[in-house]
Amino acid sequence: MNLVKRPVALVTGGTSGIGLGCALSLARDYDLALSFAQNEIKAQKALHYLKDRYPEAEVEIFQRPLFRKTDCDDLFDDVTQSFQREPLVLVNCAGRIRDGLFLTSDFEDHVNLINEHLIVSMALTQICLKSMYRKRFGRVINMSSISANYAKRGQTSYAAAKGAIEAFTRTLALEVAHRGITVNAIAPGLIETPMTEKLIESIKTKHKTLHSRIPVGRAGTPEELGEFVAFLCSANGAYITGATHIFDGGRSLGDPAS
Ligand SMILES: NC(=O)c1ccc[n+]([C@@H]2O[C@H](COP(=O)([O-])OP(=O)(O)OC[C@H]3O[C@@H](n4cnc5c(N)ncnc54)[C@H](OP(=O)(O)O)[C@@H]3O)[C@@H](O)[C@H]2O)c1
Repeated sequence: MNLVKRPVALVTGGTSGIGLGCALSLARDYDLALSFAQNEIKAQKALHYLKDRYPEAEVEIFQRPLFRKTDCDDLFDDVTQSFQREPLVLVNCAGRIRDGLFLTSDFEDHVNLINEHLIVSMALTQICLKSMYRKRFGRVINMSSISANYAKRGQTSYAAAKGAIEAFTRTLALEVAHRGITVNAIAPGLIETPMTEKLIESIKTKHKTLHSRIPVGRAGTPEELGEFVAFLCSANGAYITGATHIFDGGRSLGDPAS
């Protein structure tokens, strides 16, 4: 019997969509702490799915809506108490889209969105970094979006938060590289998740296929993205840091019809 415990990967939003795709690939090497906000049925389903696929992985779910630093402190305490060790991989993936034109929207909605995507990612990263520093190993993945650089109407605060996440990633990577800690951001295009289900349906209804929008002609899958994240989090990913990795099937390259 192997008595050496595997390191823990904390994936916020790890019970759905992209977070679950990351969890699935990380389960090969890591025990998993997956956080979610409200959908307990979906979280339980994700838990059973992962345990069936990877019986050797210890997997726990934590219901903890994340909006401010104290929520992050509480999540970290819950995770370390439950696993009796601190996470050495952090995937900041939790968050929702709430589109709305800037002029007519409620300013509080913008503040909340920036807290949820940017401030929570920064706070949780700072909390987790201390043990990564001590262990001289760590992997931080921040989920951005092509919307950071590829403007879409109605996404001012989302783009602002994601752009800041990319800037945060670059600068932090520089500060912690000497301790064996890498920090990367992923900028997905359209990935097939519960969040984008309706959007994909409406594009298909309007244009019949996704070719008019995405050069490879389809949305990406959370599993494909998860495999890429798992590589960045592996020992082989040690030389890749401070980058934003576009993962969009060519969507941000230009007009596929041109
Ligand atoms: N899907 C795309 O095409 C796409 C493209 C670019 C970027 N992204 C980014 O990728 C990330 C994940 O998106 P997704 O499509 O996988 O979404 P999703 O399927 O809706 O999953 C979101 C996950 O995050 C959790 N969550 C949401 N808000 C939270 C909060 N305030 N506190 C704690 N947990 C919260 C959800 O919990 P509950 O299920 O309990 O609500 C769920 O587990 C987001 O940061 C998004 O901006 C997605």
